[in-house]
Amino acid sequence: MFSIFKKKVLGNFSFLYADLHNHILPGLDDGAKTLEDSIELLLGMQQLGYQKIICTPHILGNIYPNTPDTIAVAYQSVKSVLVENGIHLQLEFAAEYMVDENFVDAVHKKQPLLCFGEKKCVLIEMSYLAPSPYLEECVFQLIVEGYQPILAHPERYNYYHKQPEKYKFWKEKGCWLQLNALSLTGYYGKNVKQAAEKLLSEQLIDLLGSDLHHTQHLYALQYLCSTANYRILSQYPNFKNAII
Ligand SMILES: [Fe+2]
Repeated sequence: MFSIFKKKVLGNFSFLYADLHNHILPGLDDGAKTLEDSIELLLGMQQLGYQKIICTPHILGNIYPNTPDTIAVAYQSVKSVLVENGIHLQLEFAAEYMVDENFVDAVHKKQPLLCFGEKKCVLIEMSYLAPSPYLEECVFQLIVEGYQPILAHPERYNYYHKQPEKYKFWKEKGCWLQLNALSLTGYYGKNVKQAAEKLLSEQLIDLLGSDLHHTQHLYALQYLCSTANYRILSQYPNFKNAII
């Protein structure tokens, strides 16, 4: 079987079952550019032990102006070539919504949102530069509408590192927190790694995501399997990836 990895992968992520944050669909955002890129990434995820992939392209104003229709077209293009490429993953799609004026507007107009799982999970993110003034009203309104909001990579918002009470605040508001696996390798820097380790040690994390964009991320995920943090992840009791 074709392998993108030079060395055998020792540990894997089969304990998670599903990945619910990645940029594997082609030509939609800063992730996979071509169908070939998507196939390579999916083969890598399969080899890492995942069984289900929920694709979550960015929806971000004029930068990534994706819609359910544009995402569905890219999804079908990938889905139609899975078997011929030896990929046996379950594939679904949703989105990663930037919490901006467009999103708050869509929420208030009760536009149907791309979501996944029985709990109607909606993946949301904020800018890395400043917190969104719309987050609280969006989390509240999403819950009222029967969605389960999930805040992507809370450990990567540097402005929260000195306000760790914010993590508990969002949890108490009913928002789940999704950690990026690569944060635990130092891929995004030392401060993000420390924040990730602290969030895990305090059991504030609900979901683990790959946030996979390109093959470098695959290699970094493979590296993570050889680190002490992999053992912590594989024994962490609160991941909900498998039940959504
Ligand atoms: Fe992402």
